[in-house]
Amino acid sequence: MALVLAGAAPLAAQTTPTLRQAAAARGIPIGAAASDGEYGPSNDWLANPQYASVLSTQYDMLEPDNAMKWDVTQPTIDTYNFVPGDTLVAFAQKYGMLVRGHNLCWYQQLPGWLVPSSGTGGYASTASEAQMSTLLQNHITAEVTHFAGQVFAWDVVNEAFSDSTPTTLRDSIWYNKPGIGASTGNGAATDTGYIEQAFRWAHAADPNALLFYNDYSIEGPGPKFTAVLNMVTDFVSRGVPINGVGFEMHLELGGYPSPAGLAQNMQQLAALGIQVHITEMDVRLQLSNGTATQAQLTQQVQIYQNIMTVCLQQPNCTAFQVWGVSYNDSWIPSAFPGYGAALPFDFNYQPTQAFTALLTALQTPESAPVLKTTGVVNSAGYQGGAVAPGEILAIFGVGYGYGPADPVNYQLDANGMFPTSLGGVQVFFDGVPAPLSYAQAGQVNAVVPFEVAGKQQTVIAYRYYYNGGPAPGPLPGLSINSNAVTMPVVAAVPAIFALNASGSGPGAIENWPDYSINSASNPVGANGYIQIFGTGGGTVVGGAADGALAPGAAWLSASPTWPTATIGGLPATVTYAGSAPGLVNGVLQVNLQIPQGLTPGPQPVVITIGSAQSQPGITVAVK
Ligand code: XIL
Repeated sequence: MALVLAGAAPLAAQTTPTLRQAAAARGIPIGAAASDGEYGPSNDWLANPQYASVLSTQYDMLEPDNAMKWDVTQPTIDTYNFVPGDTLVAFAQKYGMLVRGHNLCWYQQLPGWLVPSSGTGGYASTASEAQMSTLLQNHITAEVTHFAGQVFAWDVVNEAFSDSTPTTLRDSIWYNKPGIGASTGNGAATDTGYIEQAFRWAHAADPNALLFYNDYSIEGPGPKFTAVLNMVTDFVSRGVPINGVGFEMHLELGGYPSPAGLAQNMQQLAALGIQVHITEMDVRLQLSNGTATQAQLTQQVQIYQNIMTVCLQQPNCTAFQVWGVSYNDSWIPSAFPGYGAALPFDFNYQPTQAFTALLTALQTPESAPVLKTTGVVNSAGYQGGAVAPGEILAIFGVGYGYGPADPVNYQLDANGMFPTSLGGVQVFFDGVPAPLSYAQAGQVNAVVPFEVAGKQQTVIAYRYYYNGGPAPGPLPGLSINSNAVTMPVVAAVPAIFALNASGSGPGAIENWPDYSINSASNPVGANGYIQIFGTGGGTVVGGAADGALAPGAAWLSASPTWPTATIGGLPATVTYAGSAPGLVNGVLQVNLQIPQGLTPGPQPVVITIGSAQSQPGITVAVK
């Protein structure tokens, strides 16, 4: 089972990588807004093969540009319609893409029964504050519950601040009913009570989703950003569940944030522990005879490159998204008549100079390694957000430009241990160097030290030695450190290695008793036994030494409950769960008995430890 130790797929050298490949090497998702016919066949863009191909090959995240808005999702006060959103979610899941949800509370694109387009009448005009509160709560609860586990981040409230100076909260059916939610007591002009309430409702419906406030004209310093920062500061200080701020980034050549100003805004939010997503970037150009000049395109290139570069440099900028797939579906020509050419793909779905600008930024190393929480994932299942003791991680992006150019695989040291320095790379958890199994510029695989067990969080940092590594290896060369990031520690992040290291498909599973690799041509029968290999099971009884090979069986501590498993949805008896004897501590071995009554073929296998499940999409071949 040497394959399980290699972990996540090495980053292949690409001559012309896609945007998603290049962004993955930097530890961030890159996305595009997408439509699937929520307003009828005219915007059924997923049905266009060129659109679907660009979206799924160039991006690893999408956000419905309209399909999750109120006018689509709640056509009457008593009915919900999540079909368009479900279609986009299914597309994303098929192509291994994240989904950002947009949005739950906004002053625009409300259904006619709530706010008629005539502007008069409608439910909102006569509803009491209590009724409006119930309406908003029900809407948020229904939508977030429906998409729980599918939408990783929500724009909970969109564009709530005005563009006036001083910035006030924008008039809306929500703000103008101050009975919605707890009052902060800040006074009418700055009372963010309804926003707070929306975040609390969203969090209650899906505690795992990241919750964002999203707005435009907050990308650079100014009164509008200050107003948002004040709200976020207040929310964080009082424990209102907010994780991030979305910077829309709808830009034009005349006015765009300076890189320094953008970085400053991101840093001020970072100081509060708040993430930033670039959510809706486009750079519109004023066309003459339908085309942009090369001078305009050259300026646009600089803007795209600058914004992406700042995002890559700031550890808390954890996603980058453009607003549309191509010039064809861009909202710009209709929203800003006379403007266009705003995106990285043109009318023929060919990459534009803006595409090259993004790629250039993604392929340019920073002046120091940048570690982002989004780059820290389970090497078998790619789950992120938290780490478990002994979990074998793949850490992407941090060493881009600061690691060995060619992959370096581990070799056991003289004591039979995994090295804590590999190819000049070290990764520290609370100052403890972690065992490493793989290192390459852009990706290192590390085993979380068992010492993090029981802690709330751990501080992770990366170091690169230009001369190959610290003593007692080659001369302790000049080294450069990344920033440090803090990540939550949880008891377990179970995941099963995929045979092809992709995170899904046939699992790293042996049939018992001959230890042959389970496959379509070597399936297991009912009542037979298998051994599954993964990582993220957490601590084992009696403890385990970091970086040592497991000397024998050691059962998972498995707090708070013993692991369970299903195959094809049927319960499978767990006969062993713990260390994998002879493999590095941190590899999880689970032995199961195959239940009766399964349909022959590949069947999904899921391991549950406490409240955590292994990733979906891993299969075992059953006969
Ligand atoms: C836009 C959509 O792209 C259009 O299709 C729709 O007609 C109007 O809304 N800020 C936002 C997005 O937060 O929801 C908007 O999307 C663009 C501006």
